[in-house]
Amino acid sequence: MKVAVLGAAGGIGQALSLLLKTGLPAGSELSLYDVAPVVPGVAVDLSHIPTDVKVAGFGADDLDKALTGCDIVLIPAGMPRKPGMDRADLFNVNAGIIKTLAEGIVANCPKALVGIITNPVNGTVPIVAEVFKKAGTYDAKRVFGITTLDVIRSEAFIAELKGVDVASVKVPVIGGHSGTTILPLLSQVEGVTFTDEEVAALTPRIQNAGTEVVNAKAGGGSATLSMGAAAARFCMSLVKGLQGEDVVDYAYVAVENGDAEYFAHPVRLGKNGVEEILSYGTLSAFEEQAKNDMLETLKKDIKEGVDFMA
Ligand code: NAD
Ligand code: LMR
Repeated sequence: MKVAVLGAAGGIGQALSLLLKTGLPAGSELSLYDVAPVVPGVAVDLSHIPTDVKVAGFGADDLDKALTGCDIVLIPAGMPRKPGMDRADLFNVNAGIIKTLAEGIVANCPKALVGIITNPVNGTVPIVAEVFKKAGTYDAKRVFGITTLDVIRSEAFIAELKGVDVASVKVPVIGGHSGTTILPLLSQVEGVTFTDEEVAALTPRIQNAGTEVVNAKAGGGSATLSMGAAAARFCMSLVKGLQGEDVVDYAYVAVENGDAEYFAHPVRLGKNGVEEILSYGTLSAFEEQAKNDMLETLKKDIKEGVDFMA
């Protein structure tokens, strides 16, 4: 298994790379790319951890070398938010970065599974898809917006609220990855029930959890450690799928005849990436209303990504 992290010297990139160095199957290779000159040092640092995962670092001019032969590419490259900004405010600066990296994937590992972390995810995933379409290498089954942070936050907040073992909490989260487009399906959480008041308070807490971190870091960036953990968890699902295991996880993927062109769904993962997009089931009246209310925003975010490439 060869996994590349693009933006590996950043806050997410370093946390994620550490977790992959200690978590990927023995014999794997980890390829770290960043435009920041510290990236070879990050690779040397990680290489002193005694696991059977080979690490190599690649600087600004070596994107091609970093991507050659990769099975999975994870992208946390780009600028994070500061207090007062929305994720959408990052579009102008991050769109060009994502486009360049996607072109590198086309040239060096067009069959790789690609997990996009760079915000705004609602719009950066369509950019990657459009780059691949333009090059004739697009396979919708292989492109993922990583929404696992919304899932793990939901698990943490519910376990804390209800005083239950966090390992037993499973929370479907659908939609997109910004504000109201993040839709946790609290009506489907098994083993716990919520009052209407709890749903009305917990839903926006989950939707605004990124802002909670941005404000707490007070100008020092956005979630990096929890995102590193989330991306590592999602990467392990991709790895298990590639190894032939039957895995279901949540991700923001292209959906035919769905609520929007891209929408986070439960997906069955396998050797080809998405083997099946699963139904998210029946929504409560509150969730149905919340979904209908956010679709216009999500579709606008998607259009911005598609239009950038047009
Ligand atoms: P950071 O500033 O700490 O790191 C970003 C890294 O990207 C830096 O090392 C920088 O040198 C690198 N970079 C910039 N341009 C590059 C390029 N062209 N090629 C390769 N590397 C490049 O930021 P961070 O906190 O790690 O966040 C990164 C991105 O992830 C932000 O856009 C942030 O909003 C997003 N994010 C997404 C989620 C999510 O749930 N999807 C969660 C948290 C953060
Ligand atoms: C998050 O959800 O923490 C990330 O999308 C970063 C952000 O800007 O909120």
